[in-house]
Amino acid sequence: MLYLDNASTTPILPSVKDEMLKYLTDYYGNASSINNELGNISKKAINKSRFYVAKLLDCQLDEVIFTSCATESNNLIIKGVVEANINFKTNRIITSSKEHPSILEICNYLKNKNISTTYLSVDEFHCICINQLEDELKKGDVLLVSISWGTSERGTLNDIEKISDICNKYKVKFHTDATQVVSKIPISLKKYNGITYLTASGHKFHGPKGVGVAIIKKKGLPIIPLIHGGGQEFNLRSGTHSVHNIVGIGKACEVALIHFNKNKQNITELERFLKFILIKKYGKNIKFINDVPHKIPGFLNVKINVNLLDDSKKNMTITSSKSACKERKLSITEQAKLKNDGFKVFRLVLHPYLSFDDIKNIELN
Ligand SMILES: Cc1ncc(COP(=O)(O)O)c(C=O)c1O
Repeated sequence: MLYLDNASTTPILPSVKDEMLKYLTDYYGNASSINNELGNISKKAINKSRFYVAKLLDCQLDEVIFTSCATESNNLIIKGVVEANINFKTNRIITSSKEHPSILEICNYLKNKNISTTYLSVDEFHCICINQLEDELKKGDVLLVSISWGTSERGTLNDIEKISDICNKYKVKFHTDATQVVSKIPISLKKYNGITYLTASGHKFHGPKGVGVAIIKKKGLPIIPLIHGGGQEFNLRSGTHSVHNIVGIGKACEVALIHFNKNKQNITELERFLKFILIKKYGKNIKFINDVPHKIPGFLNVKINVNLLDDSKKNMTITSSKSACKERKLSITEQAKLKNDGFKVFRLVLHPYLSFDDIKNIELN
């Protein structure tokens, strides 16, 4: 079986698992119990993880808030900003029609709280148009812009530098969901200083499930937490730290930093090889629908004529067509439409630890 659904989740690295295991066995202290040795060991481990997250994203240590997943981070940032800052003058969110459900469903929910949302249209690659964003910002009533860095169906990259500059120009806070791009492209929150908030998730880059990060810049608007309690994460998120998971995401960041260049080279070569194999197999009957320079390395989006798909090869390659949350929500009519169109769309997402041998016999169904 070949697993190419790495936009949905990635396998955990052995070095990440080994590091985590220590905090599931011997080092079980509560990181807030600073008067005992075990508590201190956990606290130090969390500090170390925070250091590697901040280093990978090029931000300050106290801007890193550990959460349970990217979905929680998106909720914390968007609902938190709205709840703390809504007023009669600025009461609009700008996002795009192709965001992950964890953005779209929040905006939908906020309709009942007198927050309106403008959904920017996107091009065929699911990227927004900067001029349309600027036209909306000129109206002067925008509280927050939320645009993903990497789009989750096409795997393309929005022009975050330009969006960051334009949000700076209009003095509007900008949140980017970077869940699909962390560890795959260089990210510097110091360089793109128009980004006020950023979201990431451990399981998308060889860390564990159940841990995410919300980057909340100090110059950001005030935020009301989602979860109230002991205030463990700089009073922005409460709950006893999930030490093993936080250790896991920290280790995944450390590995991503150390191997960044090598991994980029591996994934570029793997992608070239996969394209070669697919063209050899399907010739003109395969269309690469995200074949642009501004895309996530290792992320292929292809369309294949259904007549060429061999039913006997079912489950030999694990793929998807859109985000796992969206696939779960596909209506029966949408599923029928996909079949009737006579083609099938696949997201083929590699990771850098695969080999040519792993992918050379790819079979799609
Ligand atoms: C862009 C984006 N945002 C958010 C999420 C949700 O991530 P999590 O599973 O950590 O909640 C995903 C997962 O597919 C995603 O692709």
